[in-house]
Amino acid sequence: MAVAHVSDDERELIEAIRELAQERVAPRAAEIDHSGEFPWDMKELLAGHDILAMPFPQEYEGLGSSELVIAMAIEELSRCCATTGLLLAVQQLGSMPILLFGSEEQKQRYFPRLAGGEWMAAFGLTEAGSGSDAAAMRTVAVRKGDKYLLNGSKRFITNGGLAQINTIFAVTDPALGTRGISAFIVEKDFPGFAVGRVEDKMGIKGSQTAELIFTDCEVPAENLLGSEGEGFKIAMMTLDRTRIGIGAQAVGIAQGALDLAVAYAKQRVQFGKPIGENQGIQFMLADMATRVEAARLLVYNAAEMVDRGEQGFGRYSAMAKMFASDAAMAVTSDAIQVLGGYGYMKEYPAERMMRDAKITQIYEGTNQIQRLVIARALLTDA
Ligand code: CAA
Repeated sequence: MAVAHVSDDERELIEAIRELAQERVAPRAAEIDHSGEFPWDMKELLAGHDILAMPFPQEYEGLGSSELVIAMAIEELSRCCATTGLLLAVQQLGSMPILLFGSEEQKQRYFPRLAGGEWMAAFGLTEAGSGSDAAAMRTVAVRKGDKYLLNGSKRFITNGGLAQINTIFAVTDPALGTRGISAFIVEKDFPGFAVGRVEDKMGIKGSQTAELIFTDCEVPAENLLGSEGEGFKIAMMTLDRTRIGIGAQAVGIAQGALDLAVAYAKQRVQFGKPIGENQGIQFMLADMATRVEAARLLVYNAAEMVDRGEQGFGRYSAMAKMFASDAAMAVTSDAIQVLGGYGYMKEYPAERMMRDAKITQIYEGTNQIQRLVIARALLTDA
């Protein structure tokens, strides 16, 4: 069991989420993947058990859970279904900018409904021509009286079109580079907000990934987050925290694949004995388990740094996300190998897990960007 400094109450909460995931989420996972439809029932399940309330402070009707406990919850859900784990991760991602930079009034207005799961959140940074180079965004926001008018589009937005609350990053002063980007809370009912194409993806198929289009989209000036020009910093500070959640999702997927491979190795008989009695399989399982545990420790460590209010945790969350997602890719691939031909078939969940694992190496910053973040911190921090 990995080192995790949680209280008895927190451990009980995680155990309850594990049971809920095994009893209610796991039986839906294959169907969600097959249909590719957004799992409203899973959203209601998480809302009904206050799981979507975890990232929000208690004064706004949230649970006020620690970063570590949120990560452990994402892990338990993703162990059974990565799409369902992502519901919690993105509820945190879309609302983190408000938590970090929102005014009291903005928190009062949005957090209770997000905590209750009545509303979902999304994070709109990426554009068609601006992925890793987030500062190259083209969406603009121009102030007109007591409103901003947004024009442009965002691409690959998780929960896009379903979330009522979208944190959108747009250029307010092109002459200032990263210091000319601002963040806005955009409700999906604001005039000029539209949903474009909905993507057909390799994995996390139940999660909706969509294009958001802004045509003279009217955003009240009071929906600016922080001050004009703080948007890029808000995005970076958000991702420093939420990459831990993607690391946790990857650990969950990898643990699910390991569970499957171990169970299969015990019951699959070839040459007159269970395949788990062969050293070739044993060594694979041992390597898989070690990778999962190392990834989990990096994720929990980064989460605990955030909870302790330590400076400079960004490089550790980047390490956690990078290592855990690479581990998830390796472990899910090995799980398929242990299951042999059955692993390649849709009858077993191993191939779904590998498809789901792949996105964790890409979203919230590719693993190449994580390396850049780590190296820059190494070379510039004291
Ligand atoms: N915290 C605070 N401020 C930061 C920061 C951080 N972690 N990182 C950078 N900044 C500040 C810098 O200090 C600098 O500020 P000053 O102008 O005051 O000096 C400013 O931001 C610009 O910094 P850089 O010069 O480092 O910026 P850059 O253009 O080189 O980009 C980058 C840096 C790390 C590559 C960044 O572009 C990046 O993170 N790219 C990846 C984007 C990403 O992760 N996208 C994910 C989309 S969300 C998603 O995927 C969600 C989903 O589907 C579920």
